[in-house]
Amino acid sequence: MVPLRICTVFIVLVCATSAVHGAIHQVKQLGSKYKIEKVTDSTLSIALASISSNAWNVKELDLSGNVLSQINVADLQQFTQLELLNLSSNVFYETLDLQMLSNLKTVDLNNNFVKEVFVASSIETLHAANNNISRVRCFDVYRGTQSVKSKKIYLANNKIGSLLDLDDACRKNVAYLDLQLNEIDVVDFAELADSAYTLKYLYLEFNFIFDVKNTRNVVFSNLDTLDLSSNKLAFMGPEFMAAVNARSINLSNNKLVLIEKTLKFSNSIASFDLRGNGFHCDTVKTFFKSNSHLKTVATTTVRAATGRNIETCTHTTHHSGPFCCEDLTAPFADRLIELKRKEHGLFSGQPSEKERAECEQENKSRQKKVESIRNQFGTHIDAETRRNREKIQLAQRKKALEEHLPIVQNSYDQLKGELVQTAGGLNVTDNPNLLELLHIIVQKYEDLYVEEQNEQRRAIRDIEMYHQQETQLLEENARLKKLNGEADEALQKVNATLQNLVSKEELLTKKLNNKSAAPQNV
Ligand SMILES: *[C@@H]1O[C@H](CO)[C@@H](O)[C@H](O)[C@H]1NC(C)=O
Ligand SMILES: *[C@@H]1O[C@H](CO)[C@@H](O)[C@H](O)[C@H]1NC(C)=O
Ligand SMILES: *[C@@H]1O[C@H](CO)[C@@H](O)[C@H](O)[C@H]1NC(C)=O
Ligand SMILES: *[C@@H]1O[C@H](CO)[C@@H](O)[C@H](O)[C@H]1NC(C)=O
Ligand SMILES: *[C@@H]1O[C@H](CO)[C@@H](O)[C@H](O)[C@H]1NC(C)=O
Ligand SMILES: *[C@@H]1O[C@H](CO)[C@@H](O)[C@H](O)[C@H]1NC(C)=O
Repeated sequence: MVPLRICTVFIVLVCATSAVHGAIHQVKQLGSKYKIEKVTDSTLSIALASISSNAWNVKELDLSGNVLSQINVADLQQFTQLELLNLSSNVFYETLDLQMLSNLKTVDLNNNFVKEVFVASSIETLHAANNNISRVRCFDVYRGTQSVKSKKIYLANNKIGSLLDLDDACRKNVAYLDLQLNEIDVVDFAELADSAYTLKYLYLEFNFIFDVKNTRNVVFSNLDTLDLSSNKLAFMGPEFMAAVNARSINLSNNKLVLIEKTLKFSNSIASFDLRGNGFHCDTVKTFFKSNSHLKTVATTTVRAATGRNIETCTHTTHHSGPFCCEDLTAPFADRLIELKRKEHGLFSGQPSEKERAECEQENKSRQKKVESIRNQFGTHIDAETRRNREKIQLAQRKKALEEHLPIVQNSYDQLKGELVQTAGGLNVTDNPNLLELLHIIVQKYEDLYVEEQNEQRRAIRDIEMYHQQETQLLEENARLKKLNGEADEALQKVNATLQNLVSKEELLTKKLNNKSAAPQNV
């Protein structure tokens, strides 16, 4: 016989029909848990009103798997005992503001399209995987009521760019922080200083982290797991002192070359994964020398993951402990040059075969991870709900486009104004069709251009003519000068002859005078 308990798990309390869109919503109740199915934006208020006589009894409200895109928080405020609100797998967009629900302990909004989440700082568990979240705020609505309980925040596969995208109150007393598959590139452990004693799990895998800092030398005294695998770290520096008490550290699939010598991890560490890096052999050797227990732990970790005692290397045959390594002459310089070469290759669009393969591999494993996170939190949805969901998504898209329209209209008007003004200046007749007007204006400009070109050409012709005339004049001048010169010469000759004659005449005159003056001597 089937136990009675199974049959009575869900008692259908209310089955309200709603004329709006002909949809039927169903309310199921189990103790203080209420689940509403087949509810839409337009029927939600009615559905909530239908349980308002039991409002004092509602501790958990499950609205998951519906097609809700908005929620009126005022409709929920009657449920003063509400501790859990499940909004997962709906179509919530943009900002989800639940800060007025100040007794809420757990919110589930996995699988929506939310960009910003506002909750009261009483929140203990926030499930928000698979959204589009770039900001989370935890409001202290009624000062002093803030929970002293530690928080669990699940934000896998979102758009968080920095730990600071979670405001101060959200980063306080955190025990569990899952930020895998986000867009963080720099982490400062100091940003979690208010969780130094509470933080147990920190998941940061599959981000783009190339730099880890610890500007306030925070040490997470109760840390269990630090996962920074599949990022871009090159140096495991002194900042990792923050995690010396961790039981599990995963820095696999980074670009690690060196490990800070002074790092010493506690003896309680049970898992240590540094596979898939590009270590300098010496650095790992030195590190294992001062952390001898880690060499054993690392080997155990690798064996558990691969069945072998050492990882399989692609570009080298050397190992230090279980990890692949290379003997680099100048570890950082060597890597820097390699990175520069790679960067150049990738940007010039001519990456080498090896680089392309590496890049594709990284992309593939990220995509795979995204898929697995989607599946992990995905819920089964019937065909009708899916259709409704698509409808709402389209409606949202339409709304976004409509919001965009005034901007487009505005720039259209601006453009029109400018065209009409230009047309006026060009003495072009106005045309109600803006495209035609633009065409006419362009044509007019082209005509003006041609005209100007012609004018220039004419001017050039004139100048050429002037130059020609000038040359002719100069030539004429030279010719005249030459003639002049010749004439001068002739004249001088004549003058010389004349002078000659004059002097001869004088001589003769003198002689004649002498003859007549002294004939008696002859
Ligand atoms: C919310 O609902 C989904 C789907 O029904 C379920 O898998 C999930 O566990 C619920 N979340 C919480 C916090 O109960
Ligand atoms: C996420 O947000 C970006 C802009 O911030 C937007 O372009 C994108 O379409 C959004 N994706 C979803 C699934 O809502
Ligand atoms: C470390 O992370 C990688 C990928 O992020 C994963 O494949 C591997 O199993 C993890 N190692 C351990 C020991 O869990
Ligand atoms: C990464 O892979 C996905 C699908 O596998 C593809 O759509 C995307 O273009 C790839 N991105 C890059 C940068 O190669
Ligand atoms: C504009 O065009 C009209 C006729 O096409 C002409 O009479 C007028 O002189 C022009 N004005 C200017 C400023 O070019
Ligand atoms: C001719 O020669 C004389 C003496 O050399 C000179 O004084 C005179 O100016 C000359 N006349 C001309 C026209 O050059």
